[in-house]
Amino acid sequence: MTNSFHLPLTREAHLVRLPIPHALRAALPHADDAEAALAQVLQGVELVRFDVRRLADQLASTEGHAVLGAPAHWTDAQLRWAYAVLLRQLGSLNDRYGKLFDVVDRGLDHTSSNAPVSKTKAATGMHTDSSDARYNPDLVSLLCLQPGSVGGQSLLANAHDLLRRLRKAHPELELVARQAFPRDVVTPGLAQDHGAIRANAIPVFSTDAHGLVFRYMRYWTERAIAKLGEEVPAELTALFDFIDADMAEHALRFSLRRGDMLIANNRTVVHGREAFEDLPGAARRCLVRAWVDGFLDSRADSLPLRA
Ligand SMILES: [Fe+2]
Repeated sequence: MTNSFHLPLTREAHLVRLPIPHALRAALPHADDAEAALAQVLQGVELVRFDVRRLADQLASTEGHAVLGAPAHWTDAQLRWAYAVLLRQLGSLNDRYGKLFDVVDRGLDHTSSNAPVSKTKAATGMHTDSSDARYNPDLVSLLCLQPGSVGGQSLLANAHDLLRRLRKAHPELELVARQAFPRDVVTPGLAQDHGAIRANAIPVFSTDAHGLVFRYMRYWTERAIAKLGEEVPAELTALFDFIDADMAEHALRFSLRRGDMLIANNRTVVHGREAFEDLPGAARRCLVRAWVDGFLDSRADSLPLRA
């Protein structure tokens, strides 16, 4: 059954950079007006539309990502404005954690609390965003305002290539990858008891009307199973070990520069970042995350429990 699913051939993985659209440069507000312009964009005010087909096609391709480099001399507000305008050409901004969420080290520890790794300085491990079974953002994006002092390199890998190698090396594990296993529930506003954790079950690989869906969060899956008082099945550990080793070998590893906007298809592209350190007196690492709904089929407004 699963072997009949067709995987398109892909080229050798490489980082895809695309130019900032000219229309975006042309419409850039003056630095003094950028905060107000940004607020309007976030409020959903109608904005200039421009052609993003090349970007959209790239995000829908098996490579599933692109980096657009905006000028580093634009102010933070101008960069945020350009980022929000660009993303709104692709869909709507999810407001779960705020439409623009600053990923900075807040001194938290995700191993001893329900804090998301995005509020720590730890390596994230390779993952796709959202641990909620009912919600999977179509696109995840990061705008780099400050790359930071030490570490924090970005990592990307695509699921099409990964699945092809899994089928070759361990075809028996694809069935495991298509079984739903629980993920820990860490989304604010959602019930977090055993029943909720057990119900929050997600397969690593699935297929829907739009094609392959890859949802990978090893840490939160193993933590969910531990909270339920159960052992992680040996075949699941074998699958995770294969995936982690494959990504360690094949993932793209690169540094974001100020002004870079990384956009990834969260259905087929896994991302991660290495641990980082903010040195005393230096600018703190700051990336601005956004989730985009409606590029394919994720919808922000279909979840009644969302705070
Ligand atoms: Fe993430």
